[in-house]
Amino acid sequence: MRTRILKTFATAALMTLTLAACATGQDKVELANGVKLIEEGELAVCTHLPYEPFEYKQGGEIVGFDVDLMDLVADELGLKQRTFNTPFEGIETGQSMNTSKCDIAAAGMTITDERAEVMDFSDPYFDATQALLVNKGSGLNSLESLAGKTLGVQIGTTGQQYAEANVPDDVEVKVFEDLALLVSAVKSGSIPAVINDNSVLYDYVDKNPGTEVSVEFDTGESYGFAVAMGDNDALLETVNEILAQARDDGTYDDLYQKYFPSANSSS
Ligand code: ARG
Repeated sequence: MRTRILKTFATAALMTLTLAACATGQDKVELANGVKLIEEGELAVCTHLPYEPFEYKQGGEIVGFDVDLMDLVADELGLKQRTFNTPFEGIETGQSMNTSKCDIAAAGMTITDERAEVMDFSDPYFDATQALLVNKGSGLNSLESLAGKTLGVQIGTTGQQYAEANVPDDVEVKVFEDLALLVSAVKSGSIPAVINDNSVLYDYVDKNPGTEVSVEFDTGESYGFAVAMGDNDALLETVNEILAQARDDGTYDDLYQKYFPSANSSS
């Protein structure tokens, strides 16, 4: 009887230990260069779809500017990229990386001071600014022009933050779960204007000529890839080296041309 209780106790203690190891990421695989991975042989990447052209589905496959950059990193480390689609709130709060759901986040995510307190960012790899998407000819070209109207934002984003901090009191802010729902609400006329990052909106306008970007707000943002707080400097170093190399050898420009064909030069 006594041994049985002890055994049960020991098993329970062991289970708790295992769980704790998972939660803190201590059971990660460590490569010779110090890079830590959740799963051997793969680079687990968290993203939030769709955010075209950074990450989106094409013929059942997840593709995009971020995905191609992460492939360069995975190749360098001899890994296969595995992409997880997960809500943006989990990514931008650091939760997805800090609970070992993925090794790195690649989600067109803006580097902010608040986020840098809960995750570690790579060097900046893309510039962005907030912008307003409307239907052509609407005449809506400022936050003030939206008086008495509704402005759509994407949940957890810097666009939501900017809108909430800057819209006049009589503008209603409506929150959408993802970019596709946001932009199609403008096209269908169910909402007069939405705010999001300029590059994704210009991409949408190219494919939906009835819409236009009527103003940019000059928020001066930069995107970074992000890993768990204090836990994977070696992976960040590899990412930064690959980014620098891609800029030097023309790969970055090639990807830029591939995903932003109507922009003239890379940022
Ligand atoms: N750049 C904005 C931000 O960081 C929006 C990013 C949204 N990305 C996505 N994959 N849904 O808040």
